[in-house]
Amino acid sequence: MNKFEEIKGIIDLKKLQNERKHEIQNASDAELPKKYPMNILEEELHPETQYLKITKIIDRDDAKSFVFVPDESKGTSKLAYFQAGQYISLKLHIGKSYCTRAYAISSTPKQALSGEYMLTIKLVKNGYVTPYIWENWKVGTEVAASGPAGQLFYEPLRDKKTIIAGGSGITPFYSMAGAIADGTIDANLIILYGSRTHNHILLGDELDRIAAKTDKVKVVNILSDEEVEGYEHGFINQAIIEKYAPADKNYSIYMSGPAAMIHFVNQEIKKLDLRPGQVRQEMSGSVNPYFFKNYPEEAKNKTFNMTVKTRDQIQVIPARSDESLLVAMERAGIIAPSSCRSGVCGACRSRVVNGKVFIPFPGRRAADSEYNYVNTCVTFPISDLTLQVPVHDYANMLG
Ligand code: FES
Repeated sequence: MNKFEEIKGIIDLKKLQNERKHEIQNASDAELPKKYPMNILEEELHPETQYLKITKIIDRDDAKSFVFVPDESKGTSKLAYFQAGQYISLKLHIGKSYCTRAYAISSTPKQALSGEYMLTIKLVKNGYVTPYIWENWKVGTEVAASGPAGQLFYEPLRDKKTIIAGGSGITPFYSMAGAIADGTIDANLIILYGSRTHNHILLGDELDRIAAKTDKVKVVNILSDEEVEGYEHGFINQAIIEKYAPADKNYSIYMSGPAAMIHFVNQEIKKLDLRPGQVRQEMSGSVNPYFFKNYPEEAKNKTFNMTVKTRDQIQVIPARSDESLLVAMERAGIIAPSSCRSGVCGACRSRVVNGKVFIPFPGRRAADSEYNYVNTCVTFPISDLTLQVPVHDYANMLG
């Protein structure tokens, strides 16, 4: 740097200091905004809680569709936008237990923009939550839910343009089919829809109507318990996938359904030799750990003592070997964080301080294995144990 540049630098710095002083002296003394546009947008897209009200219920044999609008009286004026295939997690208070249930939004993102979500829920006769819903939810019922979440949606930067959507959990794919038909998503969808019998096909007519409107959506029904002309018979397996998927393997596979089905289809998908990034899945319903070959026989049909440590409480509760740690806490009235309930989102992540657990699904992060962190929604007790549960989500659980 020569002498001239050095002097110029000092003058510029002096000028900058004066400008700064001038700006500060003339600045408004009005209070800074509490929220900036980015915070407002973030809250709109990812609200902790959305307050909803039922405006319509559609009966569908052993399922019902519930139409929700924002509950302005509770502070929700607008529904969060979602990607077709995502779910919301309902925050429920049943008897003494606080629990969540994740349901895929079956309506389309366009309908959310016009102020409506629809959830289509199947009745699980011996279940805990759906009999409660059948009994208690009417037009006007107020329900608290999370913002939209989940990874089972089409992302052009990540996914192939052709999606093979397989499973018995049809609601995320119904939403995707609708979004393709209305132009929100530019992709091709081949739905391999597994049902027990023809009568068990939920939203079948609606899907056929969408498929008739656009050649980008194709529906293949696969019946496991019945042979019907024009339908495939059996399970979603390698042969069925290869029959309907493009031969060049240039597709993504999305799966949705109960754990046993996902487990079976995963074995079949392995035979296709796809890259791991081509497969996405989301489980519904509860997992039966006894179903897995590596489950320790001696733990079957036992109830263990689980010591649960939360912020300032220590409770000892019963934990059945066939129920997840999360369900044991919910039964005992402990407000435990959760969202997807299928081991994917990490909301329920907690630390096993001591004792043994069974984790049916592989894929835990190395650091979690090292420090004994588990997702309580897919972890089962096989001895007495102590669990440390984080508390950051507690207030939000209550809705
Ligand atoms: S609730 Fe999502 S991982 Fe357990």
